[in-house]
Amino acid sequence: MSNWLIKKNSFEIEDIEKHGSKFLLGNGFMGYRGTMEEYSANELVAVNLAGFFDLAENSNWRESVNAPNPLYTVVSVNGTELNLSTLTPVSHCQTLDIKNGIHTRKTNFFVDGINITVKAERFVSMSRENVMALKYSITADKDVKVTLKTGIDKNIWSISGAHLNFINEEYNGNLLKLDCETVQLKNKLTVYEAVLGLCDIENRDLLHNCDINLKANTEFEFTKFGGVYHGGSLLNSEADFTAAVFAGYQQLKAEHITAWEKVWENSDVIIEGDEEAQLALRYSIYHLCSIAPHNTDKCGIPARGLSGQVYKGAAFWDTEMFMLPFFQFTDSVVARNLLKYRVNTIDGAKKKAKEFGHEGAFFAWESQETGEDACTLFNVTDIFTNRPQRTYFKDKQIHVSADIVFAMWDYCRTTGDYTLLCDGGLELMYECLWFYYTYSSFKVYKNRYELLDVVGPDEYHERVNNNAFTNVMVKHAANIFVQAIDKVKTLNPDFLKDFDKDLNWAYDFAEKLYVPQPNEKGIIEQFDGYFSLEDVTPEVLKTRELMANEYWGGHGLASNTMTLKQADVVMMLNVFRNEYNTEIKKSNWEFYEPYTEHGSSLSACAYAIVAAEIGYTDWAYKYFMKTASVDLTGNTKQYLGSLYIGGTHPAANGGAWSTAIFGFAGVSFTNDCLDISPRLPSNWQSLSFKLNWKGEKLNIKASSKGVEIDGIVNSRVTVYGKDY
Ligand code: BGC
Repeated sequence: MSNWLIKKNSFEIEDIEKHGSKFLLGNGFMGYRGTMEEYSANELVAVNLAGFFDLAENSNWRESVNAPNPLYTVVSVNGTELNLSTLTPVSHCQTLDIKNGIHTRKTNFFVDGINITVKAERFVSMSRENVMALKYSITADKDVKVTLKTGIDKNIWSISGAHLNFINEEYNGNLLKLDCETVQLKNKLTVYEAVLGLCDIENRDLLHNCDINLKANTEFEFTKFGGVYHGGSLLNSEADFTAAVFAGYQQLKAEHITAWEKVWENSDVIIEGDEEAQLALRYSIYHLCSIAPHNTDKCGIPARGLSGQVYKGAAFWDTEMFMLPFFQFTDSVVARNLLKYRVNTIDGAKKKAKEFGHEGAFFAWESQETGEDACTLFNVTDIFTNRPQRTYFKDKQIHVSADIVFAMWDYCRTTGDYTLLCDGGLELMYECLWFYYTYSSFKVYKNRYELLDVVGPDEYHERVNNNAFTNVMVKHAANIFVQAIDKVKTLNPDFLKDFDKDLNWAYDFAEKLYVPQPNEKGIIEQFDGYFSLEDVTPEVLKTRELMANEYWGGHGLASNTMTLKQADVVMMLNVFRNEYNTEIKKSNWEFYEPYTEHGSSLSACAYAIVAAEIGYTDWAYKYFMKTASVDLTGNTKQYLGSLYIGGTHPAANGGAWSTAIFGFAGVSFTNDCLDISPRLPSNWQSLSFKLNWKGEKLNIKASSKGVEIDGIVNSRVTVYGKDY
């Protein structure tokens, strides 16, 4: 069991924020932070909703909405609230069972000579996405009258202002209902609550007090249910919620556990020989599955998952480049939903391209429900002047469109599901390519296209020319588009009749787009002129800081130096692992590693995977543990300038899975062949995992003894390059 349990046996007030993310529950529709039942806005309580956004009055940005909290409950003894954030406990234990998606707490308080223990167990249902349930109990060592306040708490965390108008409260046959409306678009949201096993209450208020006479050493227990509905689910919400309450806690819990069993059946990875790595990897997978859009293609996965409103609840390239590989190999429904979301939001991307004077589809750097870019032009506040600082993530980080094209093609060729191409996918590829074509500059004297004035993954260097990652990505996107046309020609020739576009420009662009090449030492320059910047590492830069949290990008400390925020060239080597040989990978890994700050949680996994490929297994392990335990330790950057950026890190979680599978198990693939070439850390006896490969489920076990593959393989699979 220990491999599935996250546990904290003490309480430190400064951990409230960190633990809210660490002990997060979620089901893709909503995330419920790991806060205590008695907490409110101050302790960052949030029922964070996927794909539901709003602009608060006087706010500069739209962000995801947190719903009122239907599980709120607090006990008082003689007027003293048993609130962990204000009353020192005798003992406290908080757990998260990641196998079953269940959160518990047990806290012992000592008040007025009485020992009182509160216990709570809760889950956010994996089988009924709008529903959550709580079992709560109180025990005292003496007879005592306690007051219980429970109901729906409106006082929840919101970073950028209030998002909800409360328009109606109703109490009807044990059902408490709160109707809300968003401030900006007047979208409806309804929250329900019901309690069973408490005294009968007539005409309940939203938060209701109820007296309970506790008998010494006799546990008093009740159950509570919460329902959150918006959009289409509103239509039938009351019936849906009533059915859940009627089913009761045990039945809901059993269904929920069965749903999680199915999730793990497809996604678990077993490491023999390393308990710590096992827990960290499973924990990463738990997070990915808790925030995946299982039932909708209307939203992406936010960069901080469903742990809060950080980064505006928006989806970044993080989804396609870091999380999608996990989904395409373990749950192709989610992978398709994510890609279809991009297809569905292409109008936002076209609008953005126009806004910046281009054509085609320039996808949002921060994408919300319509695909319009939520990223502002002034993303960071300068901590010296307190003025907004111009950043170029929105208008210059153009690689995002190519990332999406790349991911879409990868999805098609690994799942074998090419239908997406005729369901908006090919059109999306075309529009992205056309965007790049209109963005590019053709240098007549060099007879090549170049991509000038861009930002690559390393955000500390803005407005650079010919960023290697970007150029290679776009070149691939162009080649993918050409291949995708051929694929559709064979699969569905009729479809192309409606797709009569003159494509000569695309072939020309694919052929003549410049790609930076390794120099005589085998090193690929990150962008034009990078080698002539000041040769300084992050350690030295740190000593030059005038203030903590000083932003190194913009015109900050790193911009004129070789220090980079995150994997850039190494990210490229990771993505295109079949295109570069070991020597090139080694030279670049060694060259760039000392200059990389890993100031983004996206960085470590790229270094880990490439390190595994080039045989630097100890380094690979170090970076693997960094990416896999990022949300367990919570040791990440919390501020960018004065901007709060805490929460969970799903891209790093995806990177952990990718490191295990592509790095250590050595899985790689081409259009028609899957290769497995394991290189496990020395203490790992074996690594077992499932992979969906072209519609078939393979069970794979890699160890020093060899590779076992169980499943029906209709296409070519090789082991260390040899036919299997
Ligand atoms: C990184 C980006 C990433 C974003 C959201 C930034 O700090 O530099 O690459 O997309 O965070 O995770």
